[in-house]
Amino acid sequence: MPAISEERLTLNNGTSIPAVGVGCWMGVCGEGEQVTEMVKTALELGYRHVDTAANYGNEQSVGRALEESHVPRHDIFLTTKLDQSDHGRVEEAFALSLTKLGVDYVDLYLMHWPMAYDKSGNTLQPEESPTFIETWREMEKLVADGRARTIGVSNFSIKTLTELLAHTSIVPAINQVELHPCLPQHELLNFCSERGILLTAYSPVGKAKFADDPSITSIAAAHGRGVTNAQVLLSWGVQRGTAVIPKTVHAERLKENIQLVQLSAAEMETLDRFHQKPGMHRSVCGFHSAEFGGSCWGWTYEQLGWAMAMGGFHL
Ligand SMILES: NC(=O)c1ccc[n+]([C@@H]2O[C@H](COP(=O)([O-])OP(=O)(O)OC[C@H]3O[C@@H](n4cnc5c(N)ncnc54)[C@H](OP(=O)(O)O)[C@@H]3O)[C@@H](O)[C@H]2O)c1
Repeated sequence: MPAISEERLTLNNGTSIPAVGVGCWMGVCGEGEQVTEMVKTALELGYRHVDTAANYGNEQSVGRALEESHVPRHDIFLTTKLDQSDHGRVEEAFALSLTKLGVDYVDLYLMHWPMAYDKSGNTLQPEESPTFIETWREMEKLVADGRARTIGVSNFSIKTLTELLAHTSIVPAINQVELHPCLPQHELLNFCSERGILLTAYSPVGKAKFADDPSITSIAAAHGRGVTNAQVLLSWGVQRGTAVIPKTVHAERLKENIQLVQLSAAEMETLDRFHQKPGMHRSVCGFHSAEFGGSCWGWTYEQLGWAMAMGGFHL
């Protein structure tokens, strides 16, 4: 069996993040014992990176796991995210997240999506206030007083990042986006690494929707007994320089997901090109697909800067 990954990736403020974390989106919004148990088990197994969000509705349950574990707070890299409905009240939303998590700082605070909702829950257009640039300026204040060690964004594209970077004093440390071999986002990865922005891969095992493809299975088999398809996908993610945050409620899978293998250059290339197989270039979350009707949370793909058409992708 491969060793537990203790690999860390350096952020643009000189701190570092464990390459493998545990994701806390449980498929439904809300507090619950299951997420507490998952995070406690993950910490026992050696995970030191936990990813949640105000939007998941489970910050209190995650906080309970941190409190009940015997791992010192300073050894854990904790991420939470600003909800779209809170862009106009960053300070209040952040303070509430800290209270629910039971901590006095987070290691990373992400703007969950670039678009803001108004008080009635309607999406504001990109030029309407608060724009993501205005929201970002409010987030920068949280770094100044140390309650957010780093800040970053999520679901940003080359287009939206270019706009943001033109107006920021702090370059986002991280952009968290959907990344797996069906949606490798090679151009975004190059763009971000040239600017010192690390990508975190969400849905890194593709929600287990394509991992049984023969080209992935054969790579797993080549690494010997016990190496799984999920480990191949996560190893590819880390080896290309991204952090990965798989979610699983099963202890055996938690154990598996933090043990990575060293892939050869040829294996990396197979996975880099995997999306070129007919029908494979796609989102597994549905955000980038026909079911969202050419837009996502009220912004068109063009506004989001997503180079894809409804129901498919431009390669
Ligand atoms: N920023 C954003 O907008 C955003 C969006 C989506 C997700 N995220 C973050 O990314 C995290 C992970 O993404 P995700 O949950 O969408 O997808 P994922 O981690 O790729 O896949 C999770 C699914 O795969 C299964 N799974 C996990 N490990 C496995 C393994 N070793 N073998 C077989 N099946 C396995 C899990 O099932 P079981 O639990 O039944 O094992 C679950 O159904 C989330 O929890 C969240 O923290 C962020």
